[in-house]
Amino acid sequence: MSEKRYQVPSAIAEGVGYTIVENASLEGRNTFRVPARANLLVDVRKTDALAELFGFAMIRNGPLLVLGEGSNILFTRDWPGVVLSMAALGINILEDDGNAVRVRVEAGENWNDFVRWSLARGLRGLENLILIPGTVGAAPIQNIGAYGTEVREFIDVVEAWDRQSDQLIRLNNAECAFAYRDSLFKHERDRYIVTAVEFLLPRQRELQIDYAGVREELDSLGVDIPTASSVAEAISRLRTRKLPNPAVVGNAGSFFKNPLVEQELADRLRRENPSMPAWKSEDSLTKLSAAWLIESCNFKGLQQGHAAVSEQHALVLINRGKATGSEIWSLAECIRKAVLERFGVLLEPEPLVL
Ligand code: EPU
Repeated sequence: MSEKRYQVPSAIAEGVGYTIVENASLEGRNTFRVPARANLLVDVRKTDALAELFGFAMIRNGPLLVLGEGSNILFTRDWPGVVLSMAALGINILEDDGNAVRVRVEAGENWNDFVRWSLARGLRGLENLILIPGTVGAAPIQNIGAYGTEVREFIDVVEAWDRQSDQLIRLNNAECAFAYRDSLFKHERDRYIVTAVEFLLPRQRELQIDYAGVREELDSLGVDIPTASSVAEAISRLRTRKLPNPAVVGNAGSFFKNPLVEQELADRLRRENPSMPAWKSEDSLTKLSAAWLIESCNFKGLQQGHAAVSEQHALVLINRGKATGSEIWSLAECIRKAVLERFGVLLEPEPLVL
């Protein structure tokens, strides 16, 4: 490790609604907890500050990376430009017609706090998305999803700073081009900075409890008639059992997306591996379980240097304590190679890998 890593921040500037730190450590800003530094780290506490910040040449012109809580990113190197951390807070009800609530949430709010806020007000929809790490601003970027629900079902408008037109714009749900772990924002990272999300949350909605394990968990809680809160409780228990907690063990949730493959390949793999899980998906493609493919290549629990595949879930790569981003990435590459050779399926990383 270079000397540079131990340098203290060399300059700090305060403006209205923002703080700038030069040569800043990002180790506490990514849930893998790998070391990395940014040339400039800008904490943006007020969306209004963006206009002023993009007036500075070094922010306007330098390579830019937007960070929430860093729960979906792997740094394999230092960031040579500006890291913008969106930290504006606020949850405000815009409209309530008795059946549904339109609520505006600033990008820096913690996702799970917002889910709990909605449950406490008797609103439905987000119960299956409880305990997902990260900020509200990051949620639309990868269209977070879990236990049969995706956030796109509840997003009405995403507000973003558009670096092309230098202004705040509003994109409706269709314009966001949501798909499985995907959106417009993932493809236009250099252009849009999500500043707030407006959700439409109903008071009445059928609960989604069909995903494997949810009913069983409700039964074990002794729940006869599920409510949004009891579903959230069941899913919290499932997640806590299945996924390593990033507050305890460095990780970024699923490291790979579940691959979408052509029917023909899925059918062949199914014939060769009758126990392989597979689901019908969009555009006549079949979704396979990346966790199953990885476990079948004997990677579950495997450690390489300080990086490892979780023993709890084969889709989660973990930092055993002192791993660098490169170490985690080389383990990921070994997994990709093995899965490709054995099954002919190329796994795509889910987090942003830098
Ligand atoms: N499985 C294995 N080995 C394992 C774990 C799972 O073979 O170690 C197989 C099982 O057969 C199981 C299947 O994989 O039936 C699916 O497992 P699970 O229900 O845990 O879901 P997943 O497809 O592995 C996805 C999301 C998770 C989300 C869960 C629950 C992606 C990339 N991941 O995982 O999201 O929590 O479903 O809905 O779609 C995340 O995105 O970071 C994340 C954790």
